[in-house]
Amino acid sequence: KPAMHSTEHNLQLKPLPLCCTVHSIPMVNAFAQNWERVDNFQSRPDDIVVATFPKSGTTWISEIVDMVLQGGDPKKCKRDAIINRVPMLEFAAPGQMPAGSGLWLAGMLFPCIIKSYIPADILPKSFWDKNCKMIYVGRNAKDVAVSYYHFDLMNKLHPHPGTWDQYLEAFMAGKVAYGSWFDHVRGYWERRQEHPILYLFYEDMKEDLRREIAKVAQFLGRELTEVALEAIAHHTSFEAMRDNPSTNYSVVPSHLMDHSISPFMRKGEQPQWASKPLIPSGPVQTLLNPPRHHR
Ligand code: A3P
Repeated sequence: KPAMHSTEHNLQLKPLPLCCTVHSIPMVNAFAQNWERVDNFQSRPDDIVVATFPKSGTTWISEIVDMVLQGGDPKKCKRDAIINRVPMLEFAAPGQMPAGSGLWLAGMLFPCIIKSYIPADILPKSFWDKNCKMIYVGRNAKDVAVSYYHFDLMNKLHPHPGTWDQYLEAFMAGKVAYGSWFDHVRGYWERRQEHPILYLFYEDMKEDLRREIAKVAQFLGRELTEVALEAIAHHTSFEAMRDNPSTNYSVVPSHLMDHSISPFMRKGEQPQWASKPLIPSGPVQTLLNPPRHHR
């Protein structure tokens, strides 16, 4: 069980149902309502997608990718908040550049880094057709569930998660925003056979961040000096990102994200559960422990 937040009365509230689905995937209302724009989004071949199931390290990998593209210069990455430097596909707005690139926000650099939580099966076709590079991060389902629970408590766009027990049932049944963790990790895992997808693991990043950053740089065709590699590892440590206003989401107004309930950069640890596997055997267990690239 995750540590409970002090606002115990919140936990007595009943969870609100996610009333919108997109292709049977539960989605928060704002994004479901924007689906037509998202679905018709036209990417460019040099757009880079960072994809994860929510709470698996999206912000972390986004900052790493931007740092790699900036040659390891932290000052360049402080030019704007991460939500603007790496915009979320689900917010795709009509103000896209005429070429249909990811530039719906002014001041973005090329190539665009676009983040999304959309499962592989329903990620807009354009990203597949244009052969855009994708970086996926998987994280242990149990830690994701704990992190997601705290996030749903503080994120006002998401329905209230209810009690932990209620939430865990919903999570296991795929009834949280973006649906089933199992389907999500499997979707990108399978697609990597025929599409340029670098599949990383949160746990590997915790184990040896420099090694995983080097994989990102190689995948993106960027050479990094030892100094740059060290600068990126330093700049993207949990502590550095927690204290950096451009990565810690403190710019998001409290009526959308209430950091007094739970900070966005919460703990950054693993494992947060006892080490018992959630699923004792079978294909999903293999997915929880897939052969990793460096082994
Ligand atoms: P916890 O809630 O377990 O602390 P996302 O960006 O996909 O929403 O994921 C958020 C999770 O990633 C949070 O997990 C957050 O603390 C963790 N995280 C973000 N940056 C991190 C970093 N530099 N190192 C380790 N964990 C990080």
